[in-house]
Amino acid sequence: MDYRNSDELPQSVGEEYLLNFIREITPYTEDAASPALEHSLADGVPVLSEETKNLLGTMLEIRKPGRILEIGTAYGFSAVYMSQFLPQGGQIDTIERNPVMIREARIHLAPFTGMIRLHEGAAQGIIPELTGPYDFVLIDAGMGQYALFWEEIRDKLSPGAVVFCDNVLHGGLVAMDRYEIPRRQRTIHQRMRDFLTEVLADQAYQSALLPVGDGVLIAVRKTDNGKDAL
Ligand SMILES: C[S@@+](CC[C@H](N)C(=O)[O-])C[C@H]1O[C@@H](n2cnc3c(N)ncnc32)[C@H](O)[C@@H]1O
Repeated sequence: MDYRNSDELPQSVGEEYLLNFIREITPYTEDAASPALEHSLADGVPVLSEETKNLLGTMLEIRKPGRILEIGTAYGFSAVYMSQFLPQGGQIDTIERNPVMIREARIHLAPFTGMIRLHEGAAQGIIPELTGPYDFVLIDAGMGQYALFWEEIRDKLSPGAVVFCDNVLHGGLVAMDRYEIPRRQRTIHQRMRDFLTEVLADQAYQSALLPVGDGVLIAVRKTDNGKDAL
């Protein structure tokens, strides 16, 4: 389903006229992930925005990862999308904790058994049990826990691994003054700011914070000789 026909347009931090232009000029193509996307949008399940998806696909095409870890499966849209970039024998581990999401993800992921493994439960309990190294990690889950996920995945990354984090600007709220943010969201946004500050200052990674979709942070683990992997 083309996002442009949906009432449930994913949140975006971009200027509306730019977003409209980008969506007009970028062709939409159906692929293996379209049924999961359509189902997610119909049920109001948050998914990667179209621009974020295209950026993700571009990074996957550059990096060509053999092993991918995803935190936040939802209905399986992004996992199926990423599977199209895997080489022969490649594998995705994807983690989801919500039983309703798990039920729907099982349906969408069933044709990809062997290529996509669904891990059921809270990521913070599952990641330590997983054996790396991973060449690519997509973090698209609870915003207040990104710093925790980051700590847990660090020693499971191959040199040159890409960590791609979605929703890091949360519709722009993360960049706003503390007192402009609804009180109940302040702690979560402070945690996200601390996470962004930590990753962007980490000399072991080449990172970029981008106003794409709902905000994307890309961190590439530098290779041993200190040169960037891209
Ligand atoms: C934005 S949705 C993921 C969308 C999905 N990546 C896509 O584009 O199709 C976030 C998902 O992360 C899950 N989630 C949040 N915190 C989690 C955690 N700590 N462990 C596992 N799953 C989590 C939520 O239940 C939700 O289904």
